[in-house]
Amino acid sequence: MGTSLPSRITCNLPAENITGYLSRPGDIIIGGTFMVHLDRVFIDLDFTRQPPEIQCQMFIIEYFQNMQALIFAVEEINSDPELLPNITLGYQVFDTCFTLREAAKGTLLMLSGGKEMTPNYNCHKGAPLAGIVGDSWTTASIIMAQILGLYRYPQISYFATSPILNDRDLFPSFFRTIPSDEYQMKGLAQLVLYFGWTWVGILADDDDYGQYGLQMVKQEIINGGACVAFTEYILTGQANRDAPRLVQILRESTAKVVIVISSNFVIVVEELLKQNVTGNIWIASEAWATSDLLSKQRYQGILLGTIGLAIHNGQMPMFTKYLSSLRPSKHLNNQFILDFWEQAFSCKWLGDKNVAWIDNVTVNACTGDENLESLITEDYHRVSLSVYTAVYAIVWAVQSMLNCTPGAGPFPGASCSNISSFQAWQVRKNIFY
Ligand SMILES: *[C@@H]1O[C@H](CO)[C@@H](O)[C@H](O)[C@H]1NC(C)=O
Ligand SMILES: *[C@@H]1O[C@H](CO)[C@@H](O)[C@H](O)[C@H]1NC(C)=O
Ligand SMILES: *[C@@H]1O[C@H](CO)[C@@H](O)[C@H](O)[C@H]1NC(C)=O
Ligand SMILES: *[C@@H]1O[C@H](CO)[C@@H](O)[C@H](O)[C@H]1NC(C)=O
Ligand SMILES: *[C@@H]1O[C@H](CO)[C@@H](O)[C@H](O)[C@H]1NC(C)=O
Repeated sequence: MGTSLPSRITCNLPAENITGYLSRPGDIIIGGTFMVHLDRVFIDLDFTRQPPEIQCQMFIIEYFQNMQALIFAVEEINSDPELLPNITLGYQVFDTCFTLREAAKGTLLMLSGGKEMTPNYNCHKGAPLAGIVGDSWTTASIIMAQILGLYRYPQISYFATSPILNDRDLFPSFFRTIPSDEYQMKGLAQLVLYFGWTWVGILADDDDYGQYGLQMVKQEIINGGACVAFTEYILTGQANRDAPRLVQILRESTAKVVIVISSNFVIVVEELLKQNVTGNIWIASEAWATSDLLSKQRYQGILLGTIGLAIHNGQMPMFTKYLSSLRPSKHLNNQFILDFWEQAFSCKWLGDKNVAWIDNVTVNACTGDENLESLITEDYHRVSLSVYTAVYAIVWAVQSMLNCTPGAGPFPGASCSNISSFQAWQVRKNIFY
C-alpha cells in the first residue's frame, strides 16, 4: 500500500525473455496480440539445461498486415483532431507465433505496464491500458480472456470464432468483431449437401476451434442424411510431425470430399505436395478459405477447386496506401518490417554483400528501395478490417468516457468516469453503452 516495488525486484521468478513486440508511447494504450509467424522450431524439452526461447519461423505477410492494421488505426485516430482531442493513443503489440505461452506472456506484460511481467502488479505508473485486441486463435483468446476477465479488461478478438467464447460467466469482458461458428458450421454442412456429396471426411485442428467445429459440422452433415467417412484432428502442437499420418489417411480413404477446419492446414498441404496427393475436393473454413499463403501457385495442383466460407471484406484504400508506404529506412528498429521485406521481395538483408548462397541457391540482397506500390494494390481487406473495427470499438468506448456529461453517465447517480484515472471495467461498460 502506498509503496511501490523497485523496478527490478530480486525475488522474481526466472521468466523467458519477451521477443517480437512493437510499441508506441501514448496517454492511453491499446494492446494487441497477433500471430505474425505461423510456426516454430520444435525442440524436445529434456530439462537437462535451460529450455531455449521460442524460435519463430514462417513469417506470413497477411498476418503481418493484420498487425499493421492496429498500428494504422491508432495513427489514423491520432491524426483525427475530433476523435480523442488532446489524447495520444499508444500501442503495444505482440507476435504470439501461434503459441499459448507467448499470448499469455504478452497479456501479463501488458497488464504489468509493458516493461516486465509481474502478475497482479503494475508498478510503473505508466499510461493506462484501455483494452486488448486479440487474439486471432480461439485457444489463445481463451487463455487471454481468463486472465483479462479477472481484471475486467475489455478484450476484442478479430478472428476467434469458437462458440465457447460466448460464455459471459467465464469470459465477462470478451467481445469479438467476427461471428461465432454456429452459423459457419451449418453453412459448411449445407454446402456439402447442396452438391449432393454423401461421403465426406473431416479434418480439424485439435484445439477449441477445431474440436467444436468438427462436432458441429459432423452433426449437421448426419442430420442432413450424408455420411462421414473419417474425422481426424491435426495435432497443432506438432503439426509437421503429424502431417505424414494424416496424408496416409487421406490417401487411403475413399472419401474425396474433405472439410478442413484449420488454422495451420498449410503444414498438411506441404506434406500432400511432397507425396503428390491430388484429386481431393476441399471445403474450407474461414480460417484458410481466403488465405494468400494457400492461394500460391505452389499449392494449386492440390488445392485448385477448393470452395468454402469467408468472412466479409471491406474497402480500406487508406490502409492499402499505408501498407505500401512502409519502408525499412523509416522503421529502422522494426524487425517485422525487415522480415516482411525479405518475404515480399525474396531477398535477404546481407550487409555489404550483394549476393549470397544459401543451400546452393543464390539470393539477392535487399536494398530497401524495392517498389512496394506494385505489390500491394488490393483495396479490400478481411481480417485487417476486423482488427481495425476492434480498435475503433475500444476507442469509441474511450470517447464516450471523454464526452460523458455528469448527470447523464452510465455509472451510479448517472455519474461519469474520470478519463485521467479510469478503471478497466469502466471502459468495458462503455463498449456497448
Ligand atoms: C534473455 O536475454 C538476456 C540478454 O539478451 C540473456 O542473457 C538471457 O540468457 C535471456 N534469457 C533466456 C531465458 O534465454
Ligand atoms: C486541448 O489542449 C489545448 C491546449 O492545452 C486547449 O486549449 C484545448 O481546450 C484542449 N481541448 C480539449 C477538447 O480539451
Ligand atoms: C503427381 O500425380 C499426378 C496425377 O496422379 C501425375 O500426373 C503427376 O505426374 C505426378 N507428379 C509427380 C511429380 O510425381
Ligand atoms: C551444395 O553444392 C555442393 C557442391 O556442389 C554439394 O556437395 C552440396 O551437397 C550442395 N548442398 C546442398 C544443400 O544442396
Ligand atoms: C480525475 O483524476 C485526476 C488524476 O487522478 C485528478 O487529479 C482529478 O481531480 C480527477 N477529476 C475528478 C473530476 O474527479
